[in-house]
Amino acid sequence: MSNIAAFLYLVSGVLFILALRGLSHPATSRRGNLYGMVGMAIAIATTLVLATPSFGGFVLIILGLAIGGGAGAYIARVIPMTSMPQLVAGFHSLVGLAAVLVAAAALYTPSSFGIGAIGSIHHEARVEMAIGVAIGALTFTGSIIAFLKLDGRMSGKPILLPNRHIINAVLLALILFFIAGLAISESHFNFWAIVALALALGVLLIVPIGGADMPVVVSMLNSYSGWAAAGIGFTLGNLALIITGALVGSSGAILSYIMCKGMNRSFISVILGGFGGETASSGADNSDKTVKLGSAEDAAYLMANASKVIIVPGYGMAVAQAQHALREMADKLKANGVDVKYAIHPVAGRMPGHMNVLLAEANVPYDEVFELEDINSEFAQADVAYVIGANDVTNPAARDDKTSPIYGMPILDVDKAKTCLFVKRSLGSGYAGIDNTLFYKDGTMMLLGDAKKITEEIVKAMNE
Ligand code: TAP
Repeated sequence: MSNIAAFLYLVSGVLFILALRGLSHPATSRRGNLYGMVGMAIAIATTLVLATPSFGGFVLIILGLAIGGGAGAYIARVIPMTSMPQLVAGFHSLVGLAAVLVAAAALYTPSSFGIGAIGSIHHEARVEMAIGVAIGALTFTGSIIAFLKLDGRMSGKPILLPNRHIINAVLLALILFFIAGLAISESHFNFWAIVALALALGVLLIVPIGGADMPVVVSMLNSYSGWAAAGIGFTLGNLALIITGALVGSSGAILSYIMCKGMNRSFISVILGGFGGETASSGADNSDKTVKLGSAEDAAYLMANASKVIIVPGYGMAVAQAQHALREMADKLKANGVDVKYAIHPVAGRMPGHMNVLLAEANVPYDEVFELEDINSEFAQADVAYVIGANDVTNPAARDDKTSPIYGMPILDVDKAKTCLFVKRSLGSGYAGIDNTLFYKDGTMMLLGDAKKITEEIVKAMNE
């Protein structure tokens, strides 16, 4: 029986890998999701059969599945795309909490987990339990802080406690001390000391990190929750949990790395915190500079007479839900013989692939959507760069101003196009809190207003 179970867990592991592969491109993401669902169904069914629960236990498990699955399905349906990062953070907190609860259950009823009896839990199980519970507790509180910051219920500004690095190092040393303690003696005090210290460390690690770095933090916590699950998988001797935990752990780590690369930040500088507090100046004094304001009619005229238009979407497009209007505008331009392409920055929006998902939702053909490195050289030949709700990812300060906090971050060279049309509601800064000198350049025309409304007005003007 256990051989069959191991085989079925392997099958679900392979399906999870195929799911991750499928999710890496919009064209295959539906299939990827399907693989993931089938893999999870196989894993759950195998675990249920393997555990041979009593009738009461079975009813409890089904009830848990129905409540958890029902809540998950409801939340997934009602959550707006713009709130996705905080939703993910919220879900991670539950993974962390689950890791703590499973470890506590194993500590109090070890025989039902096959890891020995009370007072004589196997040593290796105690170490796995201790590490799993430490990561789980840290993930729980860290994710809650990330959720509160992303949801605007707590200021996104970094909260910098004096001597925070020393405090964190001491907490970490104490956690390691109690992990060693639990390995030597099965004292419940050691266990709960690890939980309390890791809960505190989770809060202290995340509060100094600014809102702009939160997506990286969410992905990092995602990685932690994976490792916590894998740790608990060892305790429970559950192969599926080990495989899934390792997949989540490593994919979260890779994603954090990709995001850091997209912002030209080191992972360590993100973790140490302090970035993205007050609005930073670009170094240039903009008070005496003038801004060229334009109307939807101006924009329609410029684009209709262009031969090449590159569209640069950003977070504001997601907020305004302007992707459908944008697609309509692009269709009109293409019908007039204009070459239209979309340029996606790796950290545009608030999560990886944010813009790709929205454009796919509006049925924008995949072959019109290009990554930064594949399209950046084309801006010099473009007549118009239509920047819709993007800001930081176009800021020339990242390229030209060595004193800028975002210096070195790759940007989309929209300033090299003949005309840059900038759609946003004000001259305010983006997520990184940094002024954008592009607004004041000669070739820039600001179209101030809601991204969807302005784009719809442009389509209307084109029709007229
Ligand atoms: P931002 O720089 O945040 O700029 C978005 C702009 O959209 C804002 O300046 C805002 O200006 C405008 N906006 C908001 N609502 C709008 C609406 N309804 N209509 C029109 N405009 C609207 O966005 P970005 O260029 O996409 O850059 C992403 C930022 O997030 C970067 O700083 C990046 O480092 C950070 N970040 C992203 C990720 C990932 S994975 N995506 C990860 C880590 C960090 P107004 O208020 O004037 O309208």
